[in-house]
Amino acid sequence: MFIYTSTNKVYGDAPNYFSYQVKDKRYEPNDPKLYDGFNEGLRIDGVLHTPFGVSKASADLYVQEYARLFGLRAGVFRMGCITGGAAMAVEQHNWEPFFMKKALSDEPLTIYGYGGYQVRDVIHARDLAALFFEFFRNPRPGEAYNIGGSRANSISLLEAIDLIEEITGRRIRYSHGPAREGDHIWYISDISKAKGHFPAWNLTYSHS
Ligand SMILES: NC(=O)c1ccc[n+]([C@@H]2O[C@H](COP(=O)([O-])OP(=O)(O)OC[C@H]3O[C@@H](n4cnc5c(N)ncnc54)[C@H](O)[C@@H]3O)[C@@H](O)[C@H]2O)c1
Repeated sequence: MFIYTSTNKVYGDAPNYFSYQVKDKRYEPNDPKLYDGFNEGLRIDGVLHTPFGVSKASADLYVQEYARLFGLRAGVFRMGCITGGAAMAVEQHNWEPFFMKKALSDEPLTIYGYGGYQVRDVIHARDLAALFFEFFRNPRPGEAYNIGGSRANSISLLEAIDLIEEITGRRIRYSHGPAREGDHIWYISDISKAKGHFPAWNLTYSHS
């Protein structure tokens, strides 16, 4: 049994080739077909990956290939933002606890690009582990799944700041910096493939 914790960065900046508009405090896609997010059919060619994304995509393909060629009971799970009690509050790694730390410490925060309207879907590590357990019980070798909090647990950085301020009763002092190369404007994981393959699995954690 082998589970590869891949990433939505295997798609590089493919999400940025779609058009979006600001609605309230977040970007939303103009194409209604994207409402529930990106499925596994998103292209990986002709996009900017960053060296990190290339290394993850390479391993992602190796795992699929070994499952198909050699019968390895292996699956690929492509996540974006994972959070939980053990998440490190470090800039450019786990933004949710990092924002919380900034609120509690009263230190200034920099938002990189897109005015804070960029959207992510966040999944709790326990929900992810529960899915891995379902895969362990009923492996589907060589499959790749987009995994995240889905539309229901999507949030923009500005919305997250509002929520953290509401929870902590403190203000976050923030300014804006340049966008990071290839950073997604909007990414929500369409988790319908995983839900179809593992009907016993559900998301149990939400923002509130
Ligand atoms: N954190 C996220 O939001 C996120 C999103 C998508 C994918 N991922 C992927 O999930 C995986 C874990 O990420 P993370 O954020 O939990 O990282 P992390 O740094 O918090 O955890 C990595 C763990 O792996 C252990 N480790 C490192 N080398 C090892 C080795 N040779 N043998 C055994 N253990 C070793 C480390 O001690 C550490 O406990 C990575 O592959 C990452 O690309 C993470």
